[in-house]
Amino acid sequence: MKVLVAGPLEPFLRRTDVPPEIEVELLPEGAPISAGDAVAIVAMLTRHLGAAELDRLPGLRVIANFAVGYDNVDVEEARRRGITVTNTPGVLTEATAELTWALILAVTRRLPEGEALARGGAWTGWAPTQLLGVGLGGRVLGLLGAGRIARSVARRAPAFGMRIAYWSRTRRSEWEAESGAEWRELDELLAVADVLSLHLSLGPGSERIIDERALRRMKPGAVLVNTARGGLVDEAALVTALEGGWIRGAGLDVYAHEPTIPAALRVLPNVVLLPHVGSATEEARQGMWDLAWENVVRVIGGEAARTPVG
Ligand code: GLV
Ligand code: GLV
Repeated sequence: MKVLVAGPLEPFLRRTDVPPEIEVELLPEGAPISAGDAVAIVAMLTRHLGAAELDRLPGLRVIANFAVGYDNVDVEEARRRGITVTNTPGVLTEATAELTWALILAVTRRLPEGEALARGGAWTGWAPTQLLGVGLGGRVLGLLGAGRIARSVARRAPAFGMRIAYWSRTRRSEWEAESGAEWRELDELLAVADVLSLHLSLGPGSERIIDERALRRMKPGAVLVNTARGGLVDEAALVTALEGGWIRGAGLDVYAHEPTIPAALRVLPNVVLLPHVGSATEEARQGMWDLAWENVVRVIGGEAARTPVG
């Protein structure tokens, strides 16, 4: 049985005991799908899998997405064809939450500007008003979404003395009780958040949820952080907001059209930009591989997937 491993995942594959009945075919990133006899594909979030691609894989039984987000896969189309789609929830939650805090701190304490000053040789010494940031204590962490990653980010908020508010379509009363998080209407959340962090999956209901209207509702001192999906934000509107001082700054790990990062964003001093590294820890990436591979082996062996979506 042929399993397509699409993308540079050999380091993980080398550490995997591949059962003798499985033949792995490596598909370089960006290369078109050719192995029509594959029963499974391990795919990265950079590979779009829609009707046209699935037409080339008539024997496919499982798409194991090497990511928790699966907006790159047409899940409805896969379902129609009886193809199981799986993702990698849980194993990257802590890594992504940690990176979210790294961005929050990097923006509020202006780490890239400080690092550039220190590294560049232009620093003339300690000064009372040099590189002043803003503290987190007593401020409101506003979360869009209440999934695993949002809740993991929230778990770290008390350590910084922050209060937690959130919006998601479904309220989570149990979590509210244990975390102290307060549910707010979306517009209200935008207006009260000092740090607004996005943790929604990307889909028709969330695309560009942070548009000009939303940005205008935010506090002038607020910071926007996005470690979820770039498509949640209208990037042109964000540039206008940052240039116009509608908000203090932004920390971004994801972009609407990766790997393109709008030039107008790249020149702004009040944004911290990272190249989609939310899950980039050794532990998380190994966990993602293990889970994706387990899903492949289970489904082609006739068992239920461990982490199916949809
Ligand atoms: C990464 O962005 C993921 O969805 O896992
Ligand atoms: C991801 O695991 C999420 O639910 O946020």
